[in-house]
Amino acid sequence: MNTTIKPALEALYSELGSDERVFALMLGFYEAMARDTMIGFFFFGKDLVAVSRKQAEFLLRAMGARESYSGKSPAQAHGHLAPILPGFFDRRARILEEYLRTQGISESGIVAWVTFEEAFRDAVLNR
Ligand code: HEM
Repeated sequence: MNTTIKPALEALYSELGSDERVFALMLGFYEAMARDTMIGFFFFGKDLVAVSRKQAEFLLRAMGARESYSGKSPAQAHGHLAPILPGFFDRRARILEEYLRTQGISESGIVAWVTFEEAFRDAVLNR
């Protein structure tokens, strides 16, 4: 991970205040993606609670709130899915931004989270 984002992610964790809040926001984000007409199909039949939990653990480690992460890496997690096109990745970023805004997250916090996701663009697209 790009180390320059780490302080911003730590600040975001302080703003959110608990692991539970991160889990709840990630689930809300996944529910918003699952409802989306453009990328919702990726999530048909998926256990959104389980997948969002894994991804929240991944984010929590990056925020410095967890020592380790036991799930797949972003490069490994998508190999069995339909091709993730750049437009799908962009759409996901917009959904995240809009969802976090509805939840009252600060603009700097939103930038930190979206920038974190962006760091995995190549890993997710070229899996
Ligand atoms: C448009 C972009 C993306 C789509 C459509 C997508 C879709 C998915 C789906 C459907 C799963 C569940 C796979 C399954 O259980 O069969 C998944 C898992 C996961 N994704 Fe993504 N993803 C995207 C981008 C990202 C990004 C940017 C990251 C990293 C920040 C990421 C990290 C993960 C992780 C950590 C898991 C869980 C791995 C595990 O279960 O061990 N994904 N993704």
